[in-house]
Amino acid sequence: MCGIFAYLNYHVPRSRREILEILLKGLRRLEYRGYDSAGVGIDGGNSKDWESNAKAIQLIKQRGKVKVLDDEIQKQQDIDLDVEFDVHLGIAHTRWATHGVPSPVNSHPQRSDKHNEFIVIHNGIITNYKDLKKFLESKGYEFESETDTETIAKLVKYMYDNRENDDTSFATLVEQVTQQLEGAFALVFKSVHFPGEAVGTRRGSPLLMGVKSDHKLSADHIPILYSGKDKKSCTTLPRLDQDTCLFPVEEKAVEYYFASDASAVIEHTNRVIFLEDDDIAAVADGRLSIHRIKRTAGDHPARAIQTLQMELQQIMKGNYSSFMQKEIFEQPESVVNTMRGRVNFEDNTVTLGGLKDHIKEIQRCRRLILIACGTSYHAGVATRQVLEELTELPVMVELASDFLDRNTPVFRDDVCFFISQSGETADSLLALRYCKERGALTVGITNTVGSSISRETDCGVHINAGPEIGVASTKAYTSQFVALIMFALLMCDDRISVQPRRREIIQGLKILPDLIKEVLSLDEEIQKLAAELYQQKSVLIMGRGYHYATCLEGALKIKEITYMHSEGILAGELKHGPLALVDKLMPVIMIIMRDHTYTKCQNALQQVAARQGRPIVICDKDDYETINNSSRTIKVPHCVDCLQGILSVIPLQLLSFHLAVLRGYDVDCPRNLAKSVTVE
Ligand code: F6R
Repeated sequence: MCGIFAYLNYHVPRSRREILEILLKGLRRLEYRGYDSAGVGIDGGNSKDWESNAKAIQLIKQRGKVKVLDDEIQKQQDIDLDVEFDVHLGIAHTRWATHGVPSPVNSHPQRSDKHNEFIVIHNGIITNYKDLKKFLESKGYEFESETDTETIAKLVKYMYDNRENDDTSFATLVEQVTQQLEGAFALVFKSVHFPGEAVGTRRGSPLLMGVKSDHKLSADHIPILYSGKDKKSCTTLPRLDQDTCLFPVEEKAVEYYFASDASAVIEHTNRVIFLEDDDIAAVADGRLSIHRIKRTAGDHPARAIQTLQMELQQIMKGNYSSFMQKEIFEQPESVVNTMRGRVNFEDNTVTLGGLKDHIKEIQRCRRLILIACGTSYHAGVATRQVLEELTELPVMVELASDFLDRNTPVFRDDVCFFISQSGETADSLLALRYCKERGALTVGITNTVGSSISRETDCGVHINAGPEIGVASTKAYTSQFVALIMFALLMCDDRISVQPRRREIIQGLKILPDLIKEVLSLDEEIQKLAAELYQQKSVLIMGRGYHYATCLEGALKIKEITYMHSEGILAGELKHGPLALVDKLMPVIMIIMRDHTYTKCQNALQQVAARQGRPIVICDKDDYETINNSSRTIKVPHCVDCLQGILSVIPLQLLSFHLAVLRGYDVDCPRNLAKSVTVE
């Protein structure tokens, strides 16, 4: 779970200072993926000739965030920042430790030897690294780190030292390496033996490339080159010709970027190529070519150069103190983006282009299974009831890890949904492959175009919430919620008996953005509440029905960014245990809305009050009964019952944010967590 970034300038002169700035900027954008250490690998040497500088690679690595690495770079005495490179490859990495504690030696780039002949950056986990390490040690290679990645750096050197021909290409060596690797990886390699060349590859972890040139590019897609070799005999990749690689037509001045996601390249270029598993993308002599070992059924024989619509300002913090705060306040807009072009409020219809070819099949299915992790799982819990109501199908909501642990039976006539902001969560991705193997139809509900889940599912809905950078998910949750509601509406669009209910929900969606704005106007009031609570150890959040998911989600937000203990409790379960926690000191938040569980929630309120609890109640602003019976309320506007959960969760998002700020924590980068969990 790391961020990788690389920058190659080919006949675009850049000073070392500029190159480092580009690398550090790329890392800052990716820091949300992991931030316990960071490093860069660049050409060393201070001569005027870039080729002789490329004969020595310099590594600078630090424990801590990118800022610490930046400070370390400024301290370097022996590198001249003004030296200019006509051609150069720099690689950079921000890490979230999986093998080995955070430390400079365990940071990336990892190296083949003390002369840094080959260096590599890696996101993912190599599961057979112990066997590879044993093999390499038996050949005399000495290891210095505790990482799985170091075996990759040593293995590529082994391939180089044992190459059959002197003209074996860098891409060929990497291809040989990837054939030995098991697990998940996105990798970019740099070598003193191949100055100005880069090779990147992936399997199971995301990797894309950005291309920038003032000159027209020779194509808008790159055909794949197949080496056609099997595991043992793979030695040389096919030769390039003008039709099999990408380069600028008029003059060879081009810049290439490799990154774990588009947020790191978008400020340089919006022309990107999403690499597929087992693609080997090589830049040599300014030309980009993409290789694969063999063609299999269903493979697309080319990679398109896509134009991204995402703008940089979308991924900047703006006037907010953190990305999380910005993302909470973006929700009136992000839910509109989720519905844009899909919900017609005039004729009460819903269109989901990504499902159109499969909707009939989905309508005929035997059950729906919603599979996800963390916040995305809560989006499934939040919408389960309305899905059951409108589809009249059994709906299971599953945590991906547990679903896999149980070897849950899945049938061909099941439809399995994978809800994931990043689209890269390893548990969800594995569950997706598990369901596919069993013949179920798979549907992705993701926020990341080109992500593994969006590509591997049969069909899906992009939630279009825009990039979510804060590790704690907020706007993705409300957009997932809306996307699942739209799906429920689509499923019953031809059932006459449910039309009044459909209209009620669609009209609820219409006013939702304004109601969210109204809830956000409670920010100051919630900040004051946070000031009263921030020194507490624990917060309980109780509710039922549509709001049980809000309790779970609110508690998750509080624990992950404030490090306070917090528990979401189903109010119907109070008497079966949790009531024992309640006394006059325990902070309790209750959610009571005017829906079918109202009377039962009032009972729960009485039960808590009888134990001297003084709950803070999130309730409907017109519900005077609750307002008069409670010592403290947070009053939110009323909405149709199945959408009310969007309005009840926002006060808890705001509360967790203010609690974390008051407790002095980094809101966007909570300890021990990363945005994209690409390991099991
Ligand atoms: C919590 C949070 C996590 C994610 C979970 C799944 O705020 O962000 O619980 O929801 O790791 O991630 P995705 O949605 O990317 O699959």
